[in-house]
Parts: sequence; C-alpha cells; structure tokens
Amino acid sequence: MPIQYHIQSQEFHLYNDQVSYLIRVLENGQLGHLYYGARIPDEADHGYLVENTYRPMTTYVSPDDYSFSLSNVQQEYPPYGTSDYRHPAYEVKQANGSTVTNFTFEGYQIINGKPQLTGLPATYASSSHPATTLEIALVDQLTQVKMILSYSIFSDSPIIARNVRFENHGKETVTLTTAQSLSVDLPDADYEWVQFSGAWGRERHPHVTPLRPGLQAVDSLRGASSHMQNPFLILKRPQTTEMSGEAYAVSLVYSGNFLAQAEVNEYDVTRLQIGINPFHFAWQLTPGTNFQTPEALIAYTEKGLNDLSQSFHRLYNDCLVRGAWQHQVRPVLINNWEATYFDFTEEKLIAIAKQAKKLGIELFVLDDGWFGERMTETAGLGDWWPNPKRLPNGIAGLANQIHQLGLKFGLWFEPEMANRNSKLVRQHPDWLIQTPNRPQSQGRRQYVLDLAQPEVIDYLFDLIAKVLHDGQIDYVKWDMNRNMSEVYSLAYPANQQGEIFHRYILGVYQLYERLRQAFPKILFESCASGGGRFDAGMLYYAPQAWTSDDSDAIERLAIQGGTSYGYPLSSMGAHVSVTPNEQVGRLTPLNTRGNVAYFGDLGYELDITQMTPAELAQIKAQIEEYKRYRSVFQYGNFYRLTGLGQAKLINWLVVSQDQRIAILGNFKVLNDVNAPYRRLRIPGLKADFRYHVTEVKPAGKVNRGSFTGQELARLGLVISDASAGQTNETTDFYSRCFILEAE
Ligand code: GLA
Repeated sequence: MPIQYHIQSQEFHLYNDQVSYLIRVLENGQLGHLYYGARIPDEADHGYLVENTYRPMTTYVSPDDYSFSLSNVQQEYPPYGTSDYRHPAYEVKQANGSTVTNFTFEGYQIINGKPQLTGLPATYASSSHPATTLEIALVDQLTQVKMILSYSIFSDSPIIARNVRFENHGKETVTLTTAQSLSVDLPDADYEWVQFSGAWGRERHPHVTPLRPGLQAVDSLRGASSHMQNPFLILKRPQTTEMSGEAYAVSLVYSGNFLAQAEVNEYDVTRLQIGINPFHFAWQLTPGTNFQTPEALIAYTEKGLNDLSQSFHRLYNDCLVRGAWQHQVRPVLINNWEATYFDFTEEKLIAIAKQAKKLGIELFVLDDGWFGERMTETAGLGDWWPNPKRLPNGIAGLANQIHQLGLKFGLWFEPEMANRNSKLVRQHPDWLIQTPNRPQSQGRRQYVLDLAQPEVIDYLFDLIAKVLHDGQIDYVKWDMNRNMSEVYSLAYPANQQGEIFHRYILGVYQLYERLRQAFPKILFESCASGGGRFDAGMLYYAPQAWTSDDSDAIERLAIQGGTSYGYPLSSMGAHVSVTPNEQVGRLTPLNTRGNVAYFGDLGYELDITQMTPAELAQIKAQIEEYKRYRSVFQYGNFYRLTGLGQAKLINWLVVSQDQRIAILGNFKVLNDVNAPYRRLRIPGLKADFRYHVTEVKPAGKVNRGSFTGQELARLGLVISDASAGQTNETTDFYSRCFILEAE
C-alpha cells in the first residue's frame, strides 16, 4: 500500500519508488506538512519536525502554552486569523460576518484508484498507471462545514495530485471566498522562481528570479489562463540546471482565473499555493451542497529540469489526455488561415487541398470565415451554419470533396463568442455576459456568451453537432479570441455573481465534454488567439493546442522551448508559415522553419499554391522525414540541451522510448564568426548501443559517422562543421537536424 497511516503519531506517508510525502495531524487537530521530496523509508514518527519553540511577537493557539503557533509550523491547508498571518489556503465567510474557522481532523479513507472530479478536468488512474488516493476529512464543528483534502499518488510518477472539496452539512449558507487547490509549506527559501509569461505572439517565455521574503505571484483575471501568465511554475535550487539538481513545480488543471504564489516568511519557510484566483470569487455554499476545487499537481525532481518536464509530459500523455487520439500520432495538417485569411472561395480551398495531398499532408483545416454572415471579423460569430455565398455546396459538400481527395477535413469554431451583428445576438441579447446598465467593452468586435447558462450550452451544442455530423468532420479547432469584461450573468441573483467566472469555465468544459462524447473520433485542438489558454485543463478535452499565432521559427524557439517546461511536444501545434513572417517580418530558411515545427505537431499554414517547385519539393521531403520519425517527435523524451536564458545557440533533443532513435535540432539564432569547435553531449541514449548519425539537409542526407551511446554521452557529438573557422554556409537562423539511429 503506497499510503501508510501511523495511528500513534497520526502521520500519513504517501510514497512510491521516487518520492515521499508526509502529513501529520497537529496537536490542535489541523494538518501539518512535514516533507515532500525524494523517497525516504517508512518510519512511524517524525514529530521532531514540528516546531515547538517560543518566539517573540508570536501569537499562540492555547491560553497557557508558549510553544504551539500556526505561524511557526508548516501546514497543509492553512487558515488565516488563528495565529498564522500568512496568506491562507481558504476563507469561509459565515452568516454573522466572521471568517474564523477551526477545521480539525475527523477521519480519513484510502481509496484504491483515483476518483474523478465531477465537471472538472483531472488526471486519472488506469491499470497501466495505477494510483492510490488519500482523503482526509476535517470538520468545522460550529458551522458543520467539512473539507475533504484529497491526495493521489501514482505508482510511476513523482507527481502528487491534490484537490479539496468543501461540503456544507450545516444549516446556514456560508460563502467561500478563497479555496486554493494546493498549499504546501517548504522548509526553506533557497529557490529561484521560474514563471512562464508573455503576451499575444510571445507566450510562455521563462523568467527566472530569486525567491525573496514576502509574496511573489502570477495570476490571471481574464477569465482564461491567458497569454500573459501560465498556471504552471517552478521553484528550483539556484544551482539546478536542465540536467541536474532539485526543483519543485506546480500546475493547475484549470483554464480560468488562477493565482499561483509563493510567500516566504521571516523564518525562510516558503508557502507555495495554486488555485482559483480569490479576486472576484465568492461561492455560495448552501446547506447540503459541495464545492469542488480544480485539481492541482505538484512535482519534485532531484535530477534537473528536463527530468521535471518529462514527468509532466508522461503524466499528461498517459493520465490526462483521453480518447481515440491518446498516444496516437497526430496528422500533418494544412490550415488555410495565413494562406487566405477571410478571402477564400471553395475553388481556392480545393486547390490548396489538392496541392497538400501531393505533398503528403493528411488533414485540411478550414479556419475562420465559413459560417453565417462572416466575411470579416465584424459579423456572424455565433451563427454556426455554412455561408452559401462562400460555400455553395455547404460544409458537407466541401468536406466530401476533401475526403474524396484522400484528406481528412477539419473545421474552425469559436463556440464561446458572438458578434453583435449575428442572428444569435439579435435573438438572444441576454445570452451575452454583461452588467446591467453599464457599457459593454468589445474585443475583436465580439462578446462573450454566458456559458454559465445551461440553455446557451444546449443551443451551441445542437448547432455545432449538426455541422460536425453533416460534414463528417475529423478535426475541430476550438478558438477563443477575447478575454472577459463586465463579468455578470443575467441568469443569476446578486449574491451569486462571484461565481460567474468559475461557472463560465465549467460551462466551457461541459460543452467540450458533450461534443467529445458525441464525436469520440474527432481530434480537438484548442486555441485562444494562439496560446492564450494553453493549460493542463484544456488538455483533458483537446489533446493538442495552437501554441501561438506567432509561427516565426526563431520566436517559436522561445515559445515552444518555454512551453516544453510544463507541457508535452504532442500538445503543441507547430506550423511552417511564409517568409517574411507575418508576425515579425523575419526571413528564415524553410529548413529552419521545418526543423522547429518538427518538435511538435507539424502543420503548414501558408499558400502552397504559390510556391516554387523547389520549395514544394523541400516541403515534401520535410513531411516524409517527419512522418518517418513522427512518434519520436511527438512522444519521445524531450531534452533542452541549452539552459534557461541561453539564446544564441539552442539544441533540442528527442529520444524514442526504446532509446533506439534520437533526433537533435541544432538552431543558430545568431551566427558567430570563427566559432568554437563544438561538441554536444547527448543524454538519454543506451551506453552500449552504436548509433549511426546522419544529418538531414535540404539537399539530402549526409553521413556523420557512428558512435556508441557512451561516446555520445561522454565525448559528445561534434556539431561544428569541419571548417569551423569559417562561417561558410551558416547564417543567422541557420539550423541542422541530426538523426541518431541504433544499428
Ligand atoms: C485566432 C487564431 C488563429 C485564427 C484566427 C481566425 O487568432 O489564433 O489561428 O484561427 O483566430 O480568426
């Protein structure tokens, strides 16, 4: 049993081969946190870890005791206002206005497996990835509100999944104003904080700062996890690198407003928390009802950041992504957006599709503009039926022609939004998120539908399901192109308006779930003006996501590299687009655009009917090569061989699960003259295998010798040309792709 309860000491020990997690019932009945880190032996009592000392300027729990203060002990799910002055994990406001509570240990149960969360995304256990769950119940006697703290440990992962359920067994309604998914007090503060931040077009760039006393946080109040911050962060030891050292990471399996913060107190204890953003959150917990927090994941490594990332990649691929596309190689696609924008005809689309087929592309995706009166971004959003002026044969007719060509057919939707100029809004103006008697802000001329209202979800489901059914659609790109403002639902009373942000996301999840279940074979790709909602919550519904609207290869090194810290390559849509690049105007070689897009779900997003025969031949070869190694690119173990913050020369490596194939991408962001003679050590290989190395060049493959795994790991692969002293063919944005194959 990977969860032990020691009755005498009232300690819980969760463990597997990799990690241990220790919880103890404290002397006042609340829960103390003792340890989370590398596996330790199971011992009965670690009471010595709980601080019992007198300190000046401290408030103590009991009238005649100067040793037990919640300020001084490390806790699991701490309250505010009863001797601890740090930010709490929860706050329960009662009918008399008080927020003081006293949740004490009531009991526990150990569950074989991992219960699912109703209406929320979460990791799951299976026979190949079993898990055990500990549920600890605490009760506040006065209000009869219970909290159930849930911890699941997988047999083969260092990651612990946590969530909390509040149950009101009392007679009065209470209001939950804070309910974090996870809180943990780490015993020191010698960490660097790594966050993944950006904006539209430059999402999830890593930022590293030393942890300091006080609060540091990232959050979103946009109704989506956002381009700007990501609900994933790392605390690493200052000396930790990609290949060695300790780090923790937390990830929230949720797509709405979040807060992730660390608070370092005066005794160098680091309180790490993640959950729904308490700002603008107030949930009415009426008698007899429950509130379920989203799931949060916490990971530990002592082997560096690549190891940490790989743990998330494995967990997401094996225990979060679901359905027919789980573990399946993803199709190479062509998307018409950057080829035509709104300016397309059926004829043009067919011409693109025909060309795509010749190049080896497998899926044709029709993007924005096919429905309602949608000729520009000002109209039609919400009217999910084909526009006969554009598509005389409808979606079904077009899909049929595409299918006839031997391609799969995918379609763009933006289900959560509507233009004012749409039949939908003319008929149901009260279905928009809006605050009574206040002006309504617009984004991209569109407004957010109130997915907290069940009838809105029903309406969207029926319309979208009809199109998917009639067209036998194989793939859906689900977009979301603005953040929420003036958030208020006309369908809810005043005292529930603090629930709307969360109810909205629950509505999004519900619509996704219904469509997934009705169309289990469809591959969903989530999108939010690029990567504006790239989070673990979305991966439960859509196994891949459009990583960014910025498809410039050089910018993508930062975006995909940053994203890879928390998310697997199989989740990242990566397209080759035109040069000069539409977003940054940069000119990069087609070879480099391909090499960067290889490390993800490869697609093309440019007008392939306008390219030269030489370019087309190169794309054809690119796709052929990708398909040969696609399962390695999408599902191999991924290594960033260049550390955080090194940007001139970037090396990415994927290694197949059986270690027989490895592929190295070597990217010169800026060329260097008279460069060093460089060797690169290759991790992840089998020491006694002999690998044949070839370089894939646009002009063909070049033999680069053969070496044992041990030589490659210790001596390294020489990645400079023999003529290293000259820059010859290399330029800025030059890249190379090496394939290492066991003989
Ligand atoms: C967003 C998406 C793009 C494209 C457009 C269409 O910006 O990120 O990929 O689908 O919308 O309007």
